[in-house]
Amino acid sequence: MTADRLAIRGDLLDFTGAPGWGDTEPAAVRFRSGHWLLVDGGRIVGVQAEAPGGDFDRHDHAGRLVLPGFIDTHVHSPQIDVIASYGSELLDWLTTHTFPAEARHHDQAHAEATAALFLDALIAHGTTAAVVFPTVHAGSVDALFAAAEARGMRVIAGKVLMDRNAPDDLVDSVDSAERDMRRLITRWHGRGRLAYAVTVRFAPTSSPAQLALAGRFCRDDPSLYMQTHLAENRAEVRWVHELFPDARSYLDVYARTGLLHARSVFAHGIWLDDADRAAIAGAGAQIAHSPSSNLFLGSGLFGWRAAEAAGVAVSVASDVGGGTSLSLLRNMADAYKVQALAGERLTAWTALHAATRGAAEALGLGAEIGSLQPGRIADVCVWEPAVGAVPLRRAEVARTLHERVFAWMTLGDERNLVRAYVAGRAHYDRSPS
Ligand code: GUN
Ligand code: ZN
Repeated sequence: MTADRLAIRGDLLDFTGAPGWGDTEPAAVRFRSGHWLLVDGGRIVGVQAEAPGGDFDRHDHAGRLVLPGFIDTHVHSPQIDVIASYGSELLDWLTTHTFPAEARHHDQAHAEATAALFLDALIAHGTTAAVVFPTVHAGSVDALFAAAEARGMRVIAGKVLMDRNAPDDLVDSVDSAERDMRRLITRWHGRGRLAYAVTVRFAPTSSPAQLALAGRFCRDDPSLYMQTHLAENRAEVRWVHELFPDARSYLDVYARTGLLHARSVFAHGIWLDDADRAAIAGAGAQIAHSPSSNLFLGSGLFGWRAAEAAGVAVSVASDVGGGTSLSLLRNMADAYKVQALAGERLTAWTALHAATRGAAEALGLGAEIGSLQPGRIADVCVWEPAVGAVPLRRAEVARTLHERVFAWMTLGDERNLVRAYVAGRAHYDRSPS
């Protein structure tokens, strides 16, 4: 299925900028019906209405949607094993379900098998790039990066830091964390499409000394990413206030240790105030909104509108296994419903932008991924606009482009994915031809 030069025909949909909140017809939407996307050596080299010459291998998907691969900005590779676990809110869910599953990753063979399964599953859901939490074990990071490299995927990840308030078989120490991070960064950071993220699980599971270590790494090398959880659940927020009584807010615990910067990805950010939002926006950091997780764990309703109004970059994330699907389509549909509960309307455009170009730009990767622009790497997905009698009927009667794409976003999932290309290579094919 590999060809150096290929041309993909379909209804090309991407963004030239950020759509305005609530605008169903923004100029930033670029829809090129029945166009050919030209790919050479894994990169997009052109878009044209006419069929290319015979030197391109033609993949004709007329009538299907062609989008940049989705970017999942917050997901846990080991938590495939705990997706859809019944019965608890965050802190109990971590102890009961998640920590035992993560502890099994001390076994390298298990870590490698899980990493491969996880990345193949991501691609099969239309996600071609991700910001990932493996586990506290350095070997789980090696396994994930090696599997990503084998697939040519853009992956940002790092060893989970947790030196307290966790089971004995899952805690590290300041010293071991420093050693592991140094080795992992040397081996993986900036290698091909891989980048290292200083990965603080969340404030309660790192001592002040370990947070300080994480901050030092970020200060010493600004090219490193940082990922953590922030203000997800009310009991968690109370706990952080008890553990860090001097901090103005949960965010402040991170900010004052050097963990708030342009390469920071904060998962959730539900229970924030205006000062927190202003600080995140001012730093150029982003919030990875994980609506399916927020609903499933009963964490709360994310204030996307307030974040947007404050100038915070918001991306969309699955947060599997707190989230119940790797499909970012499903997560976007959940995001719409979360906003509806707050009396807001999330357009398909704002949601899709957050899952593609918006996420890419917030990660500083806008020149590599997130749009169908010549020069970008060809991480591209082909989607069936409707699968099944009801979605087909709904698509038939849709009057506007937004109506049609919104119905796809709301009714679709991974079963709509026809083919996923990672750097121009078809990695997933629903119907091999
Ligand atoms: N907070 C700390 N760890 C986790 C995790 O694994 N998942 C979620 N959703 N929140 C967390
Ligand atoms: Zn998470």
